[in-house]
Amino acid sequence: MCGIVGYIGEKKAQPILLNCLSKLEYRGYDSCGIALSASGIEVHKDIVRVKALTRALPTLDGMAGIGHTRWATHGEPSKLNAHPQCDCKGRIAVVHNGVINNFQKLRDQLTEEGHNLTSQTDTEVIPHLIEKYYNGDFEKAVGLALSDIEGSYTMIALMADEPRLIAARKDSPLIIGIGDRENYIASDVPALLDYTSRVIYLEDGDVAVVTADTVEVKQNGAGIIREEHKILWSVEDAQKGGYEHFMLKEIHEQPKVIRDTLAEYISAAEPAADLTGDDGSSMDDMLVLACGTSYHAGLIGKYIIEGLVNVPVRVELADEFNYSGHVSARNKAIVITQSGETIDALKSIRKLKEAGCQVIAITNVVGSTASRIVDRTIYTRAGPEISVAATKTFIAQLIALYWLALPYSRVDIGRLDDLVLEIRQLPVKVQQVLDNEAAIADCARQLAGFENVFFIGKGINYPVALEGALKLKEISYIHAEGYAAGELKHGPFALLGDKTPVVAVVAQDNTCEPMVTSIKEIKARKSPVLALVGEENETMEGLADSVITLPQIDPLFSPVVNSVALQLLAYYVARERGCPVDFPRNLAKSVTVE
Ligand code: AGP
Repeated sequence: MCGIVGYIGEKKAQPILLNCLSKLEYRGYDSCGIALSASGIEVHKDIVRVKALTRALPTLDGMAGIGHTRWATHGEPSKLNAHPQCDCKGRIAVVHNGVINNFQKLRDQLTEEGHNLTSQTDTEVIPHLIEKYYNGDFEKAVGLALSDIEGSYTMIALMADEPRLIAARKDSPLIIGIGDRENYIASDVPALLDYTSRVIYLEDGDVAVVTADTVEVKQNGAGIIREEHKILWSVEDAQKGGYEHFMLKEIHEQPKVIRDTLAEYISAAEPAADLTGDDGSSMDDMLVLACGTSYHAGLIGKYIIEGLVNVPVRVELADEFNYSGHVSARNKAIVITQSGETIDALKSIRKLKEAGCQVIAITNVVGSTASRIVDRTIYTRAGPEISVAATKTFIAQLIALYWLALPYSRVDIGRLDDLVLEIRQLPVKVQQVLDNEAAIADCARQLAGFENVFFIGKGINYPVALEGALKLKEISYIHAEGYAAGELKHGPFALLGDKTPVVAVVAQDNTCEPMVTSIKEIKARKSPVLALVGEENETMEGLADSVITLPQIDPLFSPVVNSVALQLLAYYVARERGCPVDFPRNLAKSVTVE
């Protein structure tokens, strides 16, 4: 959740650290801070965004330093709880991402031993433990401190008069960026794009000793070689490129994302994954696990796979599955996670692997933890997604699911040919939705004054309604609920009325007629209705209060165009309400703690 960075080299560390932090802000933005090593350790931190901290700081010395952008777990967002956290003498500074489970015990012990811990954070025990164990050997002291800690502790430590940074990875990502007589450490690739494309992905349990000229990685005290990789994302990928928000830029990138993702799958020599059973026949049962928006992609995947391949698909929230889900070695499983680092998704992969299941990950991040612990990875080619609200990675996940199912499709060859032609048309169809942006923004203005909104859909567009509601609530703070259209009358009807609009996703398939019936029932309760319909669908005329018209498309692919329209709708509602679109309150992009 938090973002951490480190720099050591021949340049002044301050502007580099602050720039890297600004690229990691999507991981947490409750507060931020940096520590620099010059003559002693100097720490600057506050409950502000990185831009404000940058403006507030004088020019500081130091060619080694660490930085942090926080998503609070232990202790409210405050200056005292912001990172870096230091030891008693202020000679050791630590930035940390994770949760230390035994921190209270360690804190009590340290306090008894005379250490003065002043924050409410779990992190603060780390610099104090290093201080306790320091006997002239910084690396040894860090090793001993880490061996006392239970929980997750991806962190970087900096010590006065020490020409090295010591980093450790446990349960959340950490990468080393290799430069020329300088090296970098960061939670994620976007932080480093301005400086280097050469990276080393650390593994769980790795400790890295990083100087300006060297990177030494160890596991259990023994040196280990970690391969160097080249980052393929460009600097522009992680910039706003003239758009007001990353979210809007990312929505507009979707035709290209679909094209890039499809191009990769089409050019591949073999299907993205094997959807047959062990004996080559069709599979018995498929399990799909994910969280949040990725879960909604999984639910749409159920309709895609069951519809095309005729295999039963069970979709579960990863966190719920971790506590109750049944699994056997006969299941094949797909875990969908754009970041590849969501703790609940990773736990579910480990549970599946322990049961002997074959696991496929669908992820957007090369080298992510998920990609390293599954049997097979299907990459989406969405490029870095900075806005906390997932948009282009969701659409890319849908493309991956279509492409996964199409080679195993049981539909007749004529229909299959049509589907393949249609999927190739998706970039054009999505562009048509984007070209209709002004009309969608008008509908958004009508919606922005309400405090409760229902989204309804049916069949493959039911999860689209769930995703539309999630998008709206997370960035506009309007209470929104997604419902299967037929369910609304089993309770939520009590909430209908002229103050509760309903957004209805109407597809041109066998769900159209019952959707019309549902909308008539809703209208009878005076709720304003905004309907999304294909351009040849006339059923909403004289029925819905407003309509977003979408390009005509095979119903199987309608979730793509409908979701893009709902992304724009949520974006313009949030903008109308003056919300911080890219950085919604209390959220972080990558949820690496439970
Ligand atoms: C979506 O807009 C959210 N940011 C969130 O629901 C997200 O999809 C969820 O946390 C899962 O993330 P993942 O795909 O990286 O695992």
